[in-house]
Amino acid sequence: MSQARTMDGKVVIVTGAGGGVGKAIALLAAAEGAKVVVNDLGVSLNGEKQALSPAEQVVQAIQTAGGQAIANADSVADWDSAQRMVEQAVDTFGRIDAVVNSAGILRDAIFHKLEPADFESVIRVHLFGAYNTSRAAASHFRAQGGGALVHMTSTSGLIGGLGQANYAAAKMGIVGLSRSISMDMARFGVRSNCIAPHAFSRMIESVPGLSPEEQERYLEKRRQTTRPEQIAPLAVLLCSDQAKDVSGQIFGARGNEVYLYNQPRPIRTLQRGEGWTPSTLAEQMIPAWRTSFTPAERTKDVFGWEAI
Ligand SMILES: NC(=O)c1ccc[n+]([C@@H]2O[C@H](COP(=O)([O-])OP(=O)(O)OC[C@H]3O[C@@H](n4cnc5c(N)ncnc54)[C@H](O)[C@@H]3O)[C@@H](O)[C@H]2O)c1
Repeated sequence: MSQARTMDGKVVIVTGAGGGVGKAIALLAAAEGAKVVVNDLGVSLNGEKQALSPAEQVVQAIQTAGGQAIANADSVADWDSAQRMVEQAVDTFGRIDAVVNSAGILRDAIFHKLEPADFESVIRVHLFGAYNTSRAAASHFRAQGGGALVHMTSTSGLIGGLGQANYAAAKMGIVGLSRSISMDMARFGVRSNCIAPHAFSRMIESVPGLSPEEQERYLEKRRQTTRPEQIAPLAVLLCSDQAKDVSGQIFGARGNEVYLYNQPRPIRTLQRGEGWTPSTLAEQMIPAWRTSFTPAERTKDVFGWEAI
């Protein structure tokens, strides 16, 4: 007899699943028995018109492997589109059990050159996108007494980097959104978690100062050691009943490593009977706490070791 699969009977929407991390999650969720709505705007990287959109190609791959899936080309950035996406899941497969928010764009710029349009579009796709799809699913989750949300956040927000203020703000917004949903909807059995992935994709950065050959060797190594498929098991687990008591957490995945991130709590305290003035704070608080300040490390400083 074949073994029960993690996602048998579940219906899952994966946004941005035409490529990268979302595609890997959609394929694994389907292989684990889920019926999958494969959402993606449908733009190929080089912009060329193809017979099948990236989302349709993923659907075809799932069907060829014996799974069930449909494509959806709506934008997560739009409220009505997200409502339609969830309706399509319910109309086609009869229910909705999980949403994985993986759709994303980058519009990098150093802060003093960050234009309003690039701030807004990134916030729209990532933060409004996660809100729109989660909120559209929430009514169904509440009615059926359960559901799971998984959102992709980023070390660009959790730790930091250069030239990504729009993206970091959106990704930290998602952390707060997820934490709040996990609290508001716990009474209905709804869970919400974040993953900060590291995976070779079209969002990958190049490394300044390397020769073209060194650059190619570096990228090839990262292509092999940080694959989107290595993020998928954690995302699928968090959608499944095997994680039924896991909510409000921030996980990470890179290569064969998985991480649990801490969440801010006060780490130092000082009191002064007569209260504080700016000057007494300067004299006492700053020297007392200086060694506890979070250093201006970037993601690459904190992840100083390579994935294996
Ligand atoms: N790859 C990494 O190392 C990494 C690191 C940190 C965070 N992330 C996050 O993980 C997620 C997936 O990243 P990826 O590397 O797979 O990126 P990717 O560019 O390969 O995939 C993102 C997909 O989202 C789609 N998309 C963009 N706007 C959309 C919209 N409005 N509606 C629907 N689909 C839309 C794109 O067409 C694309 O196929 C993103 O949220 C990203 O911010 C990735």
